[in-house]
Amino acid sequence: MYSDKVMDHFMNPRNVGEIENADGVGQVGNAKCGDIMKMYLKIEDNIITDAKFKTFGCGAAVATSSMATELVVGKTVDEALMITNKAVAEALDGLPPVKMHCSNLAEEAIRAALEDYKKKNGLLDSSTESTACSRRCDDIHHHLEEED
Ligand code: FES
Repeated sequence: MYSDKVMDHFMNPRNVGEIENADGVGQVGNAKCGDIMKMYLKIEDNIITDAKFKTFGCGAAVATSSMATELVVGKTVDEALMITNKAVAEALDGLPPVKMHCSNLAEEAIRAALEDYKKKNGLLDSSTESTACSRRCDDIHHHLEEED
């Protein structure tokens, strides 16, 4: 049912634990099953230099948390914000369809920890998405005006 990579990350999860004085901490819960994931990030000069997690959840949640910590280290804040649950699942050579929802925790925990980092550093005037959206909207208006 599970890939070798999922089993490996479940049996030997990487980066379990806490980071003291973490720059960003995010805790999320899965509404479907009540499982919980907490992610700690160390961020220096906009680069994630360390990540640790604690997960109270199923095997897929533990494996995706473990893989998520490996994926974020070395990334910039913006790059890490683009990591999706699908990307985490793909890095594990896939999850059974009924366990895909477990990977949502990893994506959400990364985002929550990065939001916490941004909040602590006064970088959260508007969310990344709404900035991207208003930029897109501006572009569209611009095009429409040019066409008029
Ligand atoms: Fe809850 Fe997998 S069953 S996260």
